[in-house]
Amino acid sequence: MSTTTLPHTTSVSGIAPPAPADLDPEERMSRTELEALQLERLQQTVRHAYANVPLYTRKFDEAGVHPSDIRSLDDIAKLPFTTKADLRETYPFGMFAVPMEQVARIHASSGTTGRPTVVGYTKGDLERWASLVARSLRASGIRRGMKVHNAYGYGLFTGGLGAHAGIEALGATVIPMSGGQTARQVQLIRDFEPDAILCTPSYLLTIADCMVEQGIDPRSTSLKVGVLGAEPWTNEMRHELEQRLGIDALDIYGLSEVMGPGVGNECVETKDGPHLWEDHFLPEIIDGDTGTPLPDGEMGELVFTSLTKEAFPVIRYRTRDLTRLLPGTARPGMRRMEKITGRNDDMIILRGVNLFPTQIEELVLGIETLTPHFILELTKAGRMDAMKVRIERHPDLSRETCEAAAVVLAQKIKVHIGTSVEVQLEEPGALPRSEGKYRRVYDLR
Ligand code: DLL
Repeated sequence: MSTTTLPHTTSVSGIAPPAPADLDPEERMSRTELEALQLERLQQTVRHAYANVPLYTRKFDEAGVHPSDIRSLDDIAKLPFTTKADLRETYPFGMFAVPMEQVARIHASSGTTGRPTVVGYTKGDLERWASLVARSLRASGIRRGMKVHNAYGYGLFTGGLGAHAGIEALGATVIPMSGGQTARQVQLIRDFEPDAILCTPSYLLTIADCMVEQGIDPRSTSLKVGVLGAEPWTNEMRHELEQRLGIDALDIYGLSEVMGPGVGNECVETKDGPHLWEDHFLPEIIDGDTGTPLPDGEMGELVFTSLTKEAFPVIRYRTRDLTRLLPGTARPGMRRMEKITGRNDDMIILRGVNLFPTQIEELVLGIETLTPHFILELTKAGRMDAMKVRIERHPDLSRETCEAAAVVLAQKIKVHIGTSVEVQLEEPGALPRSEGKYRRVYDLR
């Protein structure tokens, strides 16, 4: 699999990174100091989960491990994993570690199958979450006095309210727009002149298109920064968005089960994958098939243990997200992760070849005469699986040029990924537009 390593160290908008004095003390800790803090918090969390969540008591007992066995950070490998199936089994509130009187808020993620995943927060959890989103936004170059247009969806999804509280905690001005009503988003961006926008990368693309439809140059707005996440996106997409909108595009990562947005965030001075806020979350990479922990630098499934959560502690939660851990750069004490390639669940197996939608995104955006609007359709042709890339042609280019580009894309997919696909050109505007997390793959088999 190719990994993307475009250099992105220069700011597009001229936005400055935070001054060292503005960072949280934990962001300035050495690795040794941080690991001491992690161990203390890990021991506390493990005791709390074992004592208060019957599922953890049972799983620890079955694995023959007791909280007192955790004497070093490496001892974490003795603990059993937690999976989405555990959350489903205890639906809705069985994994809460505090009485309901102490639960200040509930969120849920819809999930693709069956019951939603339900998570809870104490007042303290909400405060810590807000401070970590504030830290993430500060790392992106946002500061007090700036206006932030929040277009993550409000509601049970953690994106909207999670980002909202973080903007307030930072002392910036929040414009609580939520997702959808794209024409209205464009109008308010013009009228309110925000410095930053928070939404999914695919939705920012929709917003930029809408600006063009309204005769507005997307580079002419007040926006300087986009803090984008909730779905996989490539460095090529970063480049596309930065060029189209004249902004710096930063990657924010998170998931409901572990907290919500703000588990990690890129730093504007390096843009080299999210730094993970390791004072609150202990990351591991494991081999997805065997569960064996892998060393830093190796690609595998990301696993998190929460270190400070009260209502919903998670022990070795398997995210199904694929990435690798790298040494910290802008925050040397904290490790980074590589931009996420995809989820285990998103992997397409096509006639024996494994591929992720992000690999197609990389190739599409590498061809200037193509648009970024594409979906993948999986079908069965006889007994063989087939994939069709349906992609909108460029509105300003001739049919011939677009057809030539489609041929080039099919060739590149064959060479780089190793599988033959059909590329079908669509008229501009023919494909569904994103309003949040974009659905890229349609399995019609
Ligand atoms: O998407 C939380 C969030 C909101 C993150 C807003 C960032 C911004 P869930 O709905 O539970 O929570 O979905 C979590 O989304 O396991 C990843 O597969 C994916 N994901 C989230 N952020 C990124 C990212 C929110 N920056 C799931 N890059 C995660 C790639 C991401 N994938």
